[in-house]
Amino acid sequence: MGDNPASRVYVNNKKKACEECGFKSEEFALPEETTEEELLSLIDTLNKRDDIDGILCQLPLPCHINEEKVLLAIDYSKDVDAFHPVNVGKIMIGNFDFLPCTPAGVMELIKLTGIEVSGKECVVIGRSNIVGKPQAMLLLHANGTVTVCHSRTKDLASVTKRADILIAAVGKANFVTADMVKTGAVVIDVGMNRLDGKLCGDVKFDEVSSVASAITPVPGGVGPMTIAMLMKNTLKACKLHNNLN
Ligand code: GUN
Repeated sequence: MGDNPASRVYVNNKKKACEECGFKSEEFALPEETTEEELLSLIDTLNKRDDIDGILCQLPLPCHINEEKVLLAIDYSKDVDAFHPVNVGKIMIGNFDFLPCTPAGVMELIKLTGIEVSGKECVVIGRSNIVGKPQAMLLLHANGTVTVCHSRTKDLASVTKRADILIAAVGKANFVTADMVKTGAVVIDVGMNRLDGKLCGDVKFDEVSSVASAITPVPGGVGPMTIAMLMKNTLKACKLHNNLN
């Protein structure tokens, strides 16, 4: 909804990925002034359509729309973002169909480093519903010892310096500096910020890369993984709806 430039880029990337995977996708680009009732009515139509397996409502929504109400309206068996409270609850228990895309992508990246999460000190900076909180849960499922930091955390650097695996999901450009990172840590940068018109992460890449054993760049790190996980969820939804498992 509306004309958020970042959302435009994300939606275009998601549509392109669908095309590459051979998935049919439909975009409903609603104008800013669309009412909540109209949006909920569209979701209801898509929920009922048998030829639709996955539904995603790109966030953020304009202020006059109740985001919680919208996410609750999406049929949870089509909720490829895993934002519906039923799916959030299933993730908490560890018995889920869909994983939230960004945290799941981060777990895949960690797996690729060959480093075992089990028993490791994992520190997540940020406690959003989309990344920080579910990320903590996935690391916990992988038997990590997890700490979640946020804006009220005291002496943040002393906590982040303990991390074997450090996930930055703050939303502030160059927030994580080398003095906050333990030598040899795995550093995953979920940030997507604009600084002087240039896309950059939450981590000061140039200096942290000389301390970390592995680090993700922005762009080209977590972003493509998020989309890959969205495709994975969509395939899963299709299989569930068509009893193909
Ligand atoms: N806005 C920012 N990240 C996301 C995401 O992963 N899914 C949706 N739907 N909106 C977002």
